[in-house]
Amino acid sequence: MTARRNFFQNIYRHRAEKYDRLVAREDAQGNLFAALNEIIPLDGLRVVEFGAGTGRLTRLLSVLVKLIYAFDIEPAMLRQLAPQMRATGTANWYAALGENGRMPLASNCADLVIEGWSFAHVMGWHPEDWLSRTDAMLAEMARILKPGGTAVLIETLGTGRRRPQPTDKLARLYRHWQERHGFQSRWIRTDFQFASPAEADELTRFFFGDALADECLTGSDVILPECTGIWWKRIPW
Ligand SMILES: C[S@@+](CC[C@H](N)C(=O)[O-])C[C@H]1O[C@@H](n2cnc3c(N)ncnc32)[C@H](O)[C@@H]1O
Repeated sequence: MTARRNFFQNIYRHRAEKYDRLVAREDAQGNLFAALNEIIPLDGLRVVEFGAGTGRLTRLLSVLVKLIYAFDIEPAMLRQLAPQMRATGTANWYAALGENGRMPLASNCADLVIEGWSFAHVMGWHPEDWLSRTDAMLAEMARILKPGGTAVLIETLGTGRRRPQPTDKLARLYRHWQERHGFQSRWIRTDFQFASPAEADELTRFFFGDALADECLTGSDVILPECTGIWWKRIPW
């Protein structure tokens, strides 16, 4: 197992609550919801979410969609998702274990399939066969979608960046989505806005590491800029 995989899996397995505190600080402006709703009006859709984690997208989407099925490979993340979804009072969601390349679902059942910040882990976790694993995840999305449905992928284009500046590795993945699979794309800012400089420091170091915190935070900052890419494609593919 690579060191990067160990690092993130340890967070998802043992620090899900702290992870959720971090992502709750992202996109205070609500740019993501607005952009998604522009790309595909969310009202009344049947949605399948891959790599749902602690449910930040699940919460966002459940407000408008008809039904959302949230899957993740890590039980500890779903244990964090479930009580928070119950607390919203909505009843149009369902959460279960599922691997991005092999979902426990029938074919042709969703209007929208979506992943946020999950598929790109393949670059760090499986550098030797990222291409075949990526294609398997996208094929799984296509299988689950109804004709006319839409697949949406959301990933970072740079933490601490004001303009898109993905790492070379991520840029290779995104080019594959666009050039080989024909996804369209746009980008938005989803800056983190923390409650205090101390919280900014704590949560940035926790997930993004000391090097990034040292580079991007001055000690009095409460905002950490973030650029986010959205890719989408309608079927038939
Ligand atoms: C950075 S978190 C994103 C979680 C959530 N989508 C969000 O927006 O906060 C990545 C999530 O992807 C999950 N994940 C990574 N690889 C996966 C795979 N192959 N199948 C299913 N889930 C996976 C992890 O367990 C983790 O919960």
